[in-house]
Amino acid sequence: MSALSEGCPIRLPLHPATSVPITPHLSLPYPILAVAPMVGQCDLPFRTLCRRHSSNLVYTEMFLAKEFSESAQYRSDALSRTGVKPEDAPLLVQFASRVPSEFAAAALLTRELGAWGADLNLGCPQLRAKQGGYGSWLQEERDLCVALIEAAVEAAGQDGKFAITVKIRLQETYEDTLAYATRLKEAGAVMICVHGRQRGTTDARRDGSADLESIAKLVEEFKPFPVLSNGNVRCPQDVVDNLMTTKACGVAVAEEILRNPGLFEEVECLLAGRPGQFEAPHKARRLEMLAEYLDVIQELDQSQEAPREDGSAWPKGGGGMVRADSMEGFEKARYSNWWPHADVLKQHARRIVDTPECGFRDVCKRSTFRKTRYVGEMDAFLRRRMRLRGWREEEVADVLGEGEEGEEGGALAFLA
Ligand SMILES: Cc1cc2nc3c(=O)[nH]c(=O)nc-3n(C[C@H](O)[C@H](O)[C@H](O)COP(=O)(O)O)c2cc1C
Repeated sequence: MSALSEGCPIRLPLHPATSVPITPHLSLPYPILAVAPMVGQCDLPFRTLCRRHSSNLVYTEMFLAKEFSESAQYRSDALSRTGVKPEDAPLLVQFASRVPSEFAAAALLTRELGAWGADLNLGCPQLRAKQGGYGSWLQEERDLCVALIEAAVEAAGQDGKFAITVKIRLQETYEDTLAYATRLKEAGAVMICVHGRQRGTTDARRDGSADLESIAKLVEEFKPFPVLSNGNVRCPQDVVDNLMTTKACGVAVAEEILRNPGLFEEVECLLAGRPGQFEAPHKARRLEMLAEYLDVIQELDQSQEAPREDGSAWPKGGGGMVRADSMEGFEKARYSNWWPHADVLKQHARRIVDTPECGFRDVCKRSTFRKTRYVGEMDAFLRRRMRLRGWREEEVADVLGEGEEGEEGGALAFLA
């Protein structure tokens, strides 16, 4: 019988450490269980949901430092007019930049808005980043990377009360990764998140397994400097295995946390020796998550200032899901402070349904709402909500049709 099934707590490599010192004034719990930065995904309700389920560090999506430093509107779209809410801490705001003064200004403003730190994105391989000369396309311009970090540290990080961090990819050789990371560390970055894959191509960005051995070597070389490990977590056990293999101070997860925002709660159970409390993210649990996510949206909707008038909606091409207070202005960018609006969810679902080439499950594909994987889940969710709101069975049946919870027809009827 394995230690797991006997119910023994797992001893992590840094046991009995209870916190990870980042600066003399900042620390994070060990292990750091981070929601990785994700464009179009890390909206406030999603961050809130993940925090409620044991994430102890959350990144925003990547913002443009230039826009952030120059436009009050952009800042308020990104982080709300009133700044970072205390319950949304610790928050790492991520930036793309290739101009030190802009990154420095953005970092300082981010600090003033109440974030925990500002992160420089040195990992993005996308075409847009290539054209703009930022993200992973800066890794060939290391003097500039150093200048960016130094400028931000000088502007906002000198007293150790605000973290300037970086997120990188592995380089072609381990030696080069080490050389690169060393320069970033020496420039003043106080934590480095390493995506354990190389840059690859602009459209094969996250394929294949992560090279945890290289991350492990870097962790060993750098310790006690905090290195976050990122890449290819597909289940709670992967997080534990990652921590065991790399001995990193924590793990950042992107894709899997979209599928299962309760991932880290399940990790905590594994660590505490209570495996099996959550069976693999089965349908019922995902449905619970979805319901909770929409509840968070409602709570936040009620607590926010009046809805914006200029609105926003899904980006061109469809599939994205963003906050929208009106259905106009589709071309507006996606911002972390915005989140799906109930009407938009419906519109979005309808649009997907109306598009012959994609299935209803694509409601979730490029969106925070991708937790709704199947029509059945949407249907079951709607039935449950209606009942919770006091609808009588006949009323539910009237809208969704007779039939068992989760049948495909019902939700579509409701959306029609
Ligand atoms: C939808 C999506 C958006 C992403 N956006 C960003 C981003 O804004 N900044 C960034 O540094 N990485 C971004 N990434 C990369 C992730 O942060 C992460 O490094 C990568 O997905 C590998 O982690 P994973 O295997 O857990 O998904 C994004 C990934 C996804 C899936």
